Amino acid sequence: MSLLTILEYPDERLRTRAQPVETVDDDLRRLINDMFDTMYDAPGIGLAATQVDVHKRVIVMDVSEEKNHPLVLINPEVTPLGEEREPLQEGCLSIPEYYAEVPRALRVHLKAQDRNGKAYELEADGLLAHCIQHEVDHLEGVLFVDYLSPLKRDRVKKKMLKRQKTAS
Ligand code: NI
Repeated sequence: MSLLTILEYPDERLRTRAQPVETVDDDLRRLINDMFDTMYDAPGIGLAATQVDVHKRVIVMDVSEEKNHPLVLINPEVTPLGEEREPLQEGCLSIPEYYAEVPRALRVHLKAQDRNGKAYELEADGLLAHCIQHEVDHLEGVLFVDYLSPLKRDRVKKKMLKRQKTAS
């Protein structure tokens, strides 16, 4: 088991736009395994490669109660289904101990590749739909605090900087 270091807000590297994956090989599968270890250990329900300072379009996720439904998203493409938006409380491993409601599409269509490079599609709603949108945002350098007011975001930033200072 290998744990990776998770970048924390406001680290500028979290703003990097991830590049498409061209070949799904053993090196990539090793990264995916390490990302799952890191996510389950944290513990969290989703982790984007951006968060471990690897700027490739790779996401790992598991929103199941029993932590036995690992989902790999390589080169994900998300399309919202319908106009309905739903606010849900979100957190992020890169913004520890902070939670806020973010409105997102209630239902989405996902197109991605699995750990063998095989293309798949699925429709998601509820927590899974939220999580997919949150993680795909990471690949674009977007964080959930970007949806909050500048005042709130500034408060989070100060809180995180203070936390990082006391931790080091
Ligand atoms: Ni996150």
